[in-house]
Amino acid sequence: MKKIKKLSKFLTIIPIIYLLSACDKNVTISNYNNHIKEIKIGVTLYNQDDAFISTIVKNIEEIAKDKENDGNYKIIINVLDARGSASEQSSQVERFVSQNYDVICVNMVDRTTASTIIDKAKASNIPVVFFNREPVEEDLDRWNKLYYVGAEAEKAGEMQADIIINAYRKNKQMVDRNGDGKIQYAMLEGEPGHQDALIRSEYCIKAMEKNGIELEKVADDTAYWQSAQATAKMSKWINTYGDKIEVVFSNNDDMALGAIQALEGQNRIKNKPLVIGIDGIPKALEAVKKGTMIGTVINDSWKQADAIFNLAYKLATHGDMSSVQGLEKGKYIRTAHTEVTIDNVDLFLQKSTDK
Ligand code: GAL
Ligand code: CA
Repeated sequence: MKKIKKLSKFLTIIPIIYLLSACDKNVTISNYNNHIKEIKIGVTLYNQDDAFISTIVKNIEEIAKDKENDGNYKIIINVLDARGSASEQSSQVERFVSQNYDVICVNMVDRTTASTIIDKAKASNIPVVFFNREPVEEDLDRWNKLYYVGAEAEKAGEMQADIIINAYRKNKQMVDRNGDGKIQYAMLEGEPGHQDALIRSEYCIKAMEKNGIELEKVADDTAYWQSAQATAKMSKWINTYGDKIEVVFSNNDDMALGAIQALEGQNRIKNKPLVIGIDGIPKALEAVKKGTMIGTVINDSWKQADAIFNLAYKLATHGDMSSVQGLEKGKYIRTAHTEVTIDNVDLFLQKSTDK
């Protein structure tokens, strides 16, 4: 009996090792059982170092593991990092196609080049779930097995404005520090051509103006969603403008945190600007709690991961796509945002430590 047990252990280990070496890194496998059908989901990322993207991936893996525990399918999630190279991403998609993946999830390096990826997948009848970096509509219309999961970028911008407007109405001096009746601001932008950067900035400013708040743009620049680049830009602005900037609107949290780092330990500035981000990553929630950040807007990485995985699972198991919740025009899922300030941050800090 002991021998049989040992042998069966050995036999379970072989296929796992085989799969690990046959596929690429980051393969999630558990509950291996020869009788259970397997589904393979390939994921390619524009840059795995991106704080928000890495959270989405972690969530997808967790959700897949949970689903696998239902015992219906063995689920393989293979995550590849394109490290900012569109051609690398294109070869990753080719690899998934040649290894007969059931679905490919793409976080595009260059959102204007979706057609190359679509053509490859379509030729082999493999559905694609794009996420976070939205292809143009004409590309998504090229085939009926293309989907997109993202967020409502307009709302994120408007909510940033709302947080600042509320602070201003509560205590004008806290925002308009030089008392000239205008808000001097700087905008830290994510990435040229990225829908979330362009739309968030535009709708934030529009909402401020709609509410009758006079604005003066002091500076704006791109920091590619990254904290370190934002620290560099903010340091430059401090040198050039001193304490003229009253509010820093940042297209995401990581850059907001970078700006805060530049502001910390700055004696030249008596009145530090209010800094606001988007995403709701744990470090940003802590900064809101500490008061170094006035607020953030939650970009729901859990709901997005859930939507990406559910679409992929339904597609891979040939489920009924019309039963997918929240699917707009048969292909889009956009998750809602939530405003976070000192008033409600505890609620979200709690959630992020629960996960
Ligand atoms: C945005 C997110 C950023 C960054 C970017 C990458 O939606 O807010 O933090 O992750 O996507 O495409
Ligand atoms: Ca002012």
